[in-house]
Amino acid sequence: MPTELRTSTAVDASDSRTWGRRALDAIDERLGITALAYPVPEHANRFAWTLGGITAISFLLLIGSGIVLAQFYSPMPEDANQSVRAIETEVWAGSLFRGVHFWAAQAMYVGAVLHMIRIFLTGSYKRPREGNWLIGVAMLGLITFALFTGTVLKWDQEGFEALGHNIEIGNLLGGLGFWFSPEFAGRISILLRLYGAHVVIIPGIILVLLVLHLLLVKRHRMSPHPLLPAGTSSEQAAEGEPTQPFTRHIRRLVAFGIALAGILGVLAVLFPAPIGSTPVPGIEITKPPWMFWWPFTLENWFGLSAIVWGELVFFFLLAVLPFVDRGPERWWRRRPVAMGIALVVLAVLTVLTILMAITPAEVHL
Ligand code: HEM
Repeated sequence: MPTELRTSTAVDASDSRTWGRRALDAIDERLGITALAYPVPEHANRFAWTLGGITAISFLLLIGSGIVLAQFYSPMPEDANQSVRAIETEVWAGSLFRGVHFWAAQAMYVGAVLHMIRIFLTGSYKRPREGNWLIGVAMLGLITFALFTGTVLKWDQEGFEALGHNIEIGNLLGGLGFWFSPEFAGRISILLRLYGAHVVIIPGIILVLLVLHLLLVKRHRMSPHPLLPAGTSSEQAAEGEPTQPFTRHIRRLVAFGIALAGILGVLAVLFPAPIGSTPVPGIEITKPPWMFWWPFTLENWFGLSAIVWGELVFFFLLAVLPFVDRGPERWWRRRPVAMGIALVVLAVLTVLTILMAITPAEVHL
């Protein structure tokens, strides 16, 4: 036997690793998974710091359940509502998949908002993370657009009225609203175009932005603990705080993900996703999903254009925040002005939302 072969056999014989360990090592050698075990500060494993990850998991659940629904959904106006009903009644576990999709959408919205509130309270949008904050704002806008397009797809009264609002808003925006006009692509129904946006364009852009978002989190490192003295950089903070491997963070996220999938499954069974009857044009009797209640109260008071300027003001305030609030303090108790303004905005949104909850649907169009 050649010498080099004898040597390698000798090395294998002395290898005391189990076959499972060896298989894992072989995979790692090729995929470099242990590179993920880089150190992250201990505070990054607290629940509030995992909200972004939980939002990402909701997104994965949405993609998974959405792929199943796409096999049975028909985006043709004459068939759309009926195809959703068929998913509920004829497709194996169709109601479960649809319910999980419906509840995962709520989870992603709530997760993103709570994550944003955590970033706000810990001042994590401040230098050098302004760009990543803006990416986050863009993703929040896209999540809102995904919720809207998803509502239209079921093509019941609620979806039809949502689309009616959208077309009117498109008209109001003049040239800027061209994409929302049914005339933009006369041969293709607007439902089909919104479907394309819902299943390809919006999730595709979210995915690209999410990759950028996470690369920037890696590049800037997790923001330092907000109780550290103002101006402490992530590098300085890293010298004083114990660390844990990032793989531990991932393990926690996997556990949260399994729990979240279970909770969404239970919700899907107990509270199935709603579907109304085929729409009747010319009437207005429904309310939009709860995330849109605050701009709809504005619409009740000031007319359709209020939805546009209400959303514009909201997203403008979010976008300019890191460029206006540039002080070095990061702990919320030491930022009374920023906290005061945020509380006023939150109170206004809450009151507008409650008002819509207790007001009967009004005719606008
Ligand atoms: C699709 C929605 C989103 C996903 C999946 C997501 C995901 C994440 C993840 C996994 C992290 C790591 C830290 C953590 O989990 O807290 C993170 C950090 C961050 N996110 Fe998001 N995010 C989303 C939306 C947003 C929004 C709406 C904003 C703000 C408007 C935002 C701003 C930031 C910033 C500034 C950081 C750095 C935080 C730090 O270093 O402490 N993200 N995001």
